[in-house]
Amino acid sequence: MPEEARIEEVRKRAETLRKEIREHQYRYYVLDCPTISDEEFDRLWDELVRLEEQYPELVTLDSPTQRVGGEVASAFRAVPHTRPVLSLSNAFDEGDVRAFHRRLLSVTGAKEQDVRYVVEPKIDGLTVVLRYEGGNLSLGLTRGDGIQGEDVTANVRTVRSIPLVLRGEAGATPDFLEVRGEVYLPKQDFAELNRRKEEAGEATFANPRNAAAGSLRQLDPRVTAGRPLRALFYEIRAYEPGRPFRTQEEMLSLLQSLGFPIPPYEVCGSLSQLLKVIEDWREKRHTLPYDTDGIVIKVDDLELEARAGATSHSPRAELAFKFPAEQVETKVLDIVVQVGRTGALTPVAILEPVRVAGSTVSRATLHNEDMVKEKDVRVGDWVILQKAGDVIPEIVTVLKDKRTGAEKEFSMPDKCPVCGADAVRLPGEAVTRCTGMACPAQLRESLIHFASRDGMDITGLGSSTVDSLVEAGLVRDAGDLYFLKKEDLLKLPRMGEKSAENLVRAIENSKSRPLSRLIFALGIRHVGDRGADVLAEHFKSIDKLMKATEEDLLTVPDVGPETARAIATAFRQESMKVLIEKLKKAGVKAAAAVEAAVGLTGQKPLAGKTYVITGTLSSMTRREAEELLKSLGAKVGQDVSKNTDALIVGDQPGSKLDRARALGVRTMTEEEFLELVGREPAGCTMS
Ligand code: IVH
Repeated sequence: MPEEARIEEVRKRAETLRKEIREHQYRYYVLDCPTISDEEFDRLWDELVRLEEQYPELVTLDSPTQRVGGEVASAFRAVPHTRPVLSLSNAFDEGDVRAFHRRLLSVTGAKEQDVRYVVEPKIDGLTVVLRYEGGNLSLGLTRGDGIQGEDVTANVRTVRSIPLVLRGEAGATPDFLEVRGEVYLPKQDFAELNRRKEEAGEATFANPRNAAAGSLRQLDPRVTAGRPLRALFYEIRAYEPGRPFRTQEEMLSLLQSLGFPIPPYEVCGSLSQLLKVIEDWREKRHTLPYDTDGIVIKVDDLELEARAGATSHSPRAELAFKFPAEQVETKVLDIVVQVGRTGALTPVAILEPVRVAGSTVSRATLHNEDMVKEKDVRVGDWVILQKAGDVIPEIVTVLKDKRTGAEKEFSMPDKCPVCGADAVRLPGEAVTRCTGMACPAQLRESLIHFASRDGMDITGLGSSTVDSLVEAGLVRDAGDLYFLKKEDLLKLPRMGEKSAENLVRAIENSKSRPLSRLIFALGIRHVGDRGADVLAEHFKSIDKLMKATEEDLLTVPDVGPETARAIATAFRQESMKVLIEKLKKAGVKAAAAVEAAVGLTGQKPLAGKTYVITGTLSSMTRREAEELLKSLGAKVGQDVSKNTDALIVGDQPGSKLDRARALGVRTMTEEEFLELVGREPAGCTMS
């Protein structure tokens, strides 16, 4: 095929993939109803990424892969809004709502029975105003002072639930569109972000809104891209030409069909129904995945809304009903010290169980020694408790008037409560850490992390089995897991034949996890799953990563000074060296085989070759085969093209086989593949 025709074919395939990916992202983020598995989605994604890597000239700005592209800015540019971005007036009780309703009727002359309201949660995030020109996202602004906002386009583009391209057939989407919505950090991600920050001894965010604002207002879009921000849209500020909606409800449905996620909403036909819905939301809001500080009430009829007009601050037909942050009183029964994976000692208040913001709370973290002193929390105190960002229980104040004199002050232990090693607090740090190399608490947490789904994914190695293993003294680090025998496991409480066999098998299977998983599983401070991917991609072997100096590490994209120091320090530890040695000896592939096979000779025998796999292989998973090929220098394509050197054909091959035949691409059986990569075919072990 001539070069031009081939490029045209790839361009078409890339466009099809982009369409499919957009559609699946729409189903996932907007409709909350995905129709394919994560693995299937990853496959489409990987194929597009590879095509774009091979043909950079075919990359388009609106490609779903091109979310992170902006440069690091020195400041945000101020841009005038097309019209003022107003705020809302607040209501705190039923009387305020009745007064709002009466005023609306008198200002507009509307009849009681003609007024319908739409009620939405008031998302505790950060307002964004987005412009789309010719269907493409062209500008993203913060609210700023309402007259001009800050240009955060590069950061907004990284938020995966924000469409880069409007949905709909060409010609059916508006030429110009301006929408308003809220960017937020889901409650669970906020809790996780703060947990990591606390472990690292960094200042935590007070609530998800601050975390979202801090994440969106980053001068480096790559930092924003690393935060799992989401968005919901509730207003169309401009739609040209024409305006094909007359009510809030129609506007929301149009937003959704254009590709925007919208908040849940309810329509109320009367004031009494509105008051009931407000009461329902008082509790119901806690079940949402994001923090809310109230609900927003809007007149449904937009003509009526326009008639009501606005003050310079807020529209007269919309109202924010604020729920007070729920606060309850409870008693501190004890203050215990927890030891985390990195050895951080965290004081935790054990509380008389109490219901607050949708769940029963019996513990509240006190973060660190300074916090306990600052709040002056003592065992036996009565305290006021609330949930920060609707998730993290926190002690607001101590009711000192209720003290009897029997309360006991807390002091940070100078020994680790779990292993008895010295606990030290370095100058300038807020966190006290256990120095014990073999601290069971650290060991427990690090094993749980090692075996976690994003780590080495060892099914059946949950916290209770880890506890038993540590207690029985069977493992001193994650490397020991690979030398456990069924007989060892059978000695553990509640461990039957079948579970023991399954666990041994799961541990064995985990030996083939790729390098990125292993790096993540090692639990190095500041190295999350994305960071691990980047490191694996850059260093390609654990040995090279181990040898990297801080300066080497700083050349890796996304690795800052703190992370570089943490990685270099981690690999200098004798305990880490011992662990990696054990993993190699056990045959954990990412630690051993790959680099040994290639590294000794320094050759990549399959460099420059591209293979594609179809069907099921009997000797290994598809992922393992891909990792193996890559380790030998080959590229693994997702789709057969003229560039493919061979198609590896497993059981029940798909349409790729037809394509390979049509293109005259060589096919390879599993046996031939095993021979190629220097493996013994199954069932033919040499004596
Ligand atoms: S409507 C003219 N709807 O709350 C004002 N606002 O205190 C139009 N907010 O600045 C705003 N969720 O950032 C509206 N469902 C929702 C909202 C919402 C959160 C924010 C918005 C606004 C603030 C007002």
